[in-house]
Amino acid sequence: MNHYPLTGNSSAKLTGIGTYVPERILTNCELEQMVDTNDEWIVQRTGISERRIAGPHEYSSDLAVQAVIDLQRRFNKEVDDVDFIIVATSTADYSFPSTATRIQDYFEIKRTGAMDLGAACAGFVYGLHLANAMISSGLQRKILVVGTETLSKITDYTDRSTCILFGDGAGAVLVEADTENPGFYGSSWFLTEGGEGRQLYRTALSEEWKDTQLSGNGKLVQNGREVYKWAVRNIPEGMQELLRQNQLGFDDIDWFVPHSANLRMIESICEKSGFPIERTLYSMVHYGNTSAASIPLAIDLGIKQNKLQSGDSLMLIGFGGGLVAAGLIVRWN
Ligand code: COA
Repeated sequence: MNHYPLTGNSSAKLTGIGTYVPERILTNCELEQMVDTNDEWIVQRTGISERRIAGPHEYSSDLAVQAVIDLQRRFNKEVDDVDFIIVATSTADYSFPSTATRIQDYFEIKRTGAMDLGAACAGFVYGLHLANAMISSGLQRKILVVGTETLSKITDYTDRSTCILFGDGAGAVLVEADTENPGFYGSSWFLTEGGEGRQLYRTALSEEWKDTQLSGNGKLVQNGREVYKWAVRNIPEGMQELLRQNQLGFDDIDWFVPHSANLRMIESICEKSGFPIERTLYSMVHYGNTSAASIPLAIDLGIKQNKLQSGDSLMLIGFGGGLVAAGLIVRWN
């Protein structure tokens, strides 16, 4: 396919990726022993066969560190000179200090900024947007963007409508300045509908939504059907907007990488938008919905399966709790 430059005056590019999932596999058959469900129902409705579960003493920062080690090893990259660490997560080890500071400490990165961002399943794409803006401003040159989740720690394993969906994992990418060959990043789309927030949330300090049909006890709660409809209604419009900004068509996009929440949802989005499902990368079949980690896990599967090649264009769209959605087009280097 044509390796046209993308617009947007970006001087940032992706230069490496690493991922990690915990060893423990939770299969659909095991879930049959825990709640009133069955493998056939789960696969038919979600496309998920199994998911990974962190150990009792394994937290989001531990998964993130392993993903960065994987990146270093495979792409021969140093991280002790990164200017900034952005971690997208809904399952930080602590409310504060941030998960990003755990990464800084582990790799002993002396001079860096470090922060977590909260945009649920859209968080990784938000992180890429921020990294691009910081690098294109000329103030930073090298940024780690990590999506990491231990959703098993906030999943209610007595609620069959949610416990079948979620899993744990992490993905990290390095975003670096390249002023000589700009044009790796382009197009930006955001959507926020806070009025729909009660469809998917984790109870915390506020009691406001406690008297709705969903009640959380510190666990994740979701009205799955409403989230499903919201995504299928809005994501195809976002795809068109991303294309329009670069005057591209679907033929110019090598791979569509939506948040891997549910394979049936992705099929519906592809059907509605007209994008061929064969050129879609997803990670939920063996990892479940890993929220902020799902997109880097899907990209890395694409690399490991020899689908994604250097120079390929990716349309990334994250969406979830908020409700929020974020998209961008980026070229894999
Ligand atoms: N096993 C068996 N039956 C189940 C079940 C399970 N795990 N979960 C729900 N059911 C039942 C329901 O109780 C309901 O039964 P009823 O008809 O007797 O009342 C029936 O299956 C249909 O339930 P419904 O919730 O309408 O199913 P659905 O087709 O919408 O599928 C989800 C449920 C959660 C799989 C689906 O809505 C979904 O994936 N939504 C998107 C969620 C998501 O991706 N969120 C993250 C976005 S970031």
